Amino acid sequence: MTYENIIVERRDGVGLITLNRPEALNALSCPLLRDLAQALDDLESDNQIGAIVLTGSEKAFAAGADIKEMQEQTWPDLYVANYMTVDGDRMSRSRKPVIAAVSGYALGGGCELAMMCDFILASESAKFGQPEVTLGITPGLGGSQRLTRFVGKSKAMEMCLTGRMMDAEEAERTGLVSRIIPGDGLVDEAMKTATKIAAMSTPVTMMIKEAVNRSYEVTLSEGVRFERVMFQAAFGTEDQSEGMAAFVEKRKPVFKNR
Ligand code: CAA
Repeated sequence: MTYENIIVERRDGVGLITLNRPEALNALSCPLLRDLAQALDDLESDNQIGAIVLTGSEKAFAAGADIKEMQEQTWPDLYVANYMTVDGDRMSRSRKPVIAAVSGYALGGGCELAMMCDFILASESAKFGQPEVTLGITPGLGGSQRLTRFVGKSKAMEMCLTGRMMDAEEAERTGLVSRIIPGDGLVDEAMKTATKIAAMSTPVTMMIKEAVNRSYEVTLSEGVRFERVMFQAAFGTEDQSEGMAAFVEKRKPVFKNR
């Protein structure tokens, strides 16, 4: 399938989605978000795919929701259209692991989209921010909630209230980013990491993702109980038998995603 605003490639069990609206620094227009939602549907229903990488260009992962598209909209327009809800939130409903590979600007909806992924690898040029306040609006794709959980109230509040950007070093220090990849190796490293995940048992990586994400939703005891159920359920897979047999026999496991 071909898309107008994104490029989708499949390599070694990994789906690579590249946002591709260079003329607008990958601003998240409705057509782009529709393409992205469709690509996630396709990749998630493909049994050959065990992990996904989402990236942009060197200059911009995404510079936010499309301001030109929003400029003339009124509240009833947005409310009736349920703007940003169905396709905009699609990433947060993905069940397979997704890595955001961020170079350059990840602003507003771009920062929010990166935070919907499971973890963020960043190049040295990455800049994160929620500049919506400078446009007279609030964050709209979860920034006020997810940024606060990632970097704490003080930094999230400062960034959302002033629009200040965070560079890659500060983003890594505060836990927004898992690693900074030096030089121009960002996408290669993200693909390498995703390939490693895709070689694991897909049902198990999906269960791990669900369990980690549960920690944002429920109390510690509820979360630990959920993890225990997932842990025990893993013993219902052939991949558990294979993984443990491979360890005992000192060989590499071959998982079948069953
Ligand atoms: N929407 C639409 N177009 C955008 C855009 C956006 N978010 N960001 C950049 N562009 C366009 C520019 O209008 C420009 O187009 P033209 O060549 O037709 O003028 C092109 O992309 C290149 O941008 P700049 O010339 O501005 O590039 P720069 O290097 O000088 O600046 C930048 C880069 C600092 C990222 C600047 O483009 C910028 O501030 N962009 C807007 C960032 C922003 O406010 N994002 C939040 C959007 S609101 C939101 O996201 C709501 C939400 O939470 C859902």
